[in-house]
Amino acid sequence: MKLCMIGTGYVGLVSGVCFAELGNEVICVDKDQNKINNLKKSIIPIYEPGLNELVKKNSKAGRLKFSTNIDESVQKSNIIFICVGTPTKKNKYEADLSQVYDVAKKISKNIKSFKIIINKSTVPVMTGDKVEKILSKKVKKKLFSVVSNPEFLREGEAIRDFIYPDRIVIGTSNKKSNKILKNLYSPLISKGAKYINTSRRAAELIKYASNAFLATKITFINELANFCEKLDINVEDVSIGMGTDKRIGGRFLRAGPAYGGSCFPKDTRALIDTANKSLTSLSVIKSVINSNNKRSDLLLYRIRKILKNRIKNKKITFLGVTFKANTDDMRESSSLKMIPYLSKKGAKVRYYDPTGKKQEFDRLKNVQFKNNIKEACISSDLIIIHTEWNEFKLIDLKRIVSKKNFIVYDLRNIYSPEKMKKQKIKYFGIGR
Ligand code: UDX
Repeated sequence: MKLCMIGTGYVGLVSGVCFAELGNEVICVDKDQNKINNLKKSIIPIYEPGLNELVKKNSKAGRLKFSTNIDESVQKSNIIFICVGTPTKKNKYEADLSQVYDVAKKISKNIKSFKIIINKSTVPVMTGDKVEKILSKKVKKKLFSVVSNPEFLREGEAIRDFIYPDRIVIGTSNKKSNKILKNLYSPLISKGAKYINTSRRAAELIKYASNAFLATKITFINELANFCEKLDINVEDVSIGMGTDKRIGGRFLRAGPAYGGSCFPKDTRALIDTANKSLTSLSVIKSVINSNNKRSDLLLYRIRKILKNRIKNKKITFLGVTFKANTDDMRESSSLKMIPYLSKKGAKVRYYDPTGKKQEFDRLKNVQFKNNIKEACISSDLIIIHTEWNEFKLIDLKRIVSKKNFIVYDLRNIYSPEKMKKQKIKYFGIGR
């Protein structure tokens, strides 16, 4: 099939590359000329394990092309995926859909034969209705069908998540589109993915509801972790004990810092905004957002307590600063609140991240990027494990810090408290 992905961010690029890997002819379009020039040379704008190899392989095979020409790319394709960004509007909860609507207008000028227009960007319920309205202004109804097909891939696991999804959600009541899309996804369905055909609005809500539910699960265990700390209970025991009940499930029950990333914070806010517009109160999700917003302050309070309120001139090391491991993404990472606060309080902050220096901290006083774990940790007073990269899991801290009485604050519970005790390292984790 001939596919066109509009927007080469996470969703568009990964989906486009994976569809090419499944044997389709794919054109990935972006208005950013520099990005497209780089992609033509197989230079990838994001950090995603395995993506580079697949771009090279499929470009070489001639199945994957990159272009800035949206008109020509739409004309050449049968299925067009809208994969542009839907960020939160400044100082609001509402999603900014201007890019989706701009793209819809451009598509509408280029339809001469039947095309399926798929919304893969995460959008509020009824965005599909609006896209359909935009297209109807220029194109006869029988020449197009607007479908919602949300993407559930995680950064760092995106290729695996695309090839082996739990489910494929197709929101359409158009039988022809449903048949074509079931065929497009047949290689994944045959590997066990569940194919779910719903109304377009339901598909849009499934995406928001899934992200909001996962954010709720994390926030639930984070709050329980606070309680466990008071009662000397290990929250990990509670997660396992709860999670083995199949009705609950053990995943996304790891307590840690505030959740972050490009999806959970943005999508929970947008869901509240959409519900408000329909005069519905989603109070559970509202309190999840509030609790998560307060979480970094709570962990900073704990850091103050650990350092007995003496932060000034303390050498504090952050291992990992991205919102999670296997990504270079800093969006809504809790480190963006924690590091500026500690710098303001006079700490000497050093950080190491496997994905390199972050411009977000460039202008902060006494905050330095170090090229390796050893340089970041040497003679530190407090080491904060902020992100759970594998390379942090077996560090011989005693040897590399080369200082007595340093403290470890493990926000991801990657170390065993017993082992730390044996090594005589002062250790704090989350909820234990
Ligand atoms: C998420 C969804 O998982 C994905 O389906 C959707 O398409 C996009 O948003 P992503 O943002 O890549 O994916 O990251 P994810 O792995 O879900 O983690 C999100 C945040 O939750 C991170 O800050 C992570 O550290 C945190 N998290 C996750 C926890 O704190 N505990 C957990 O048990 C799981």
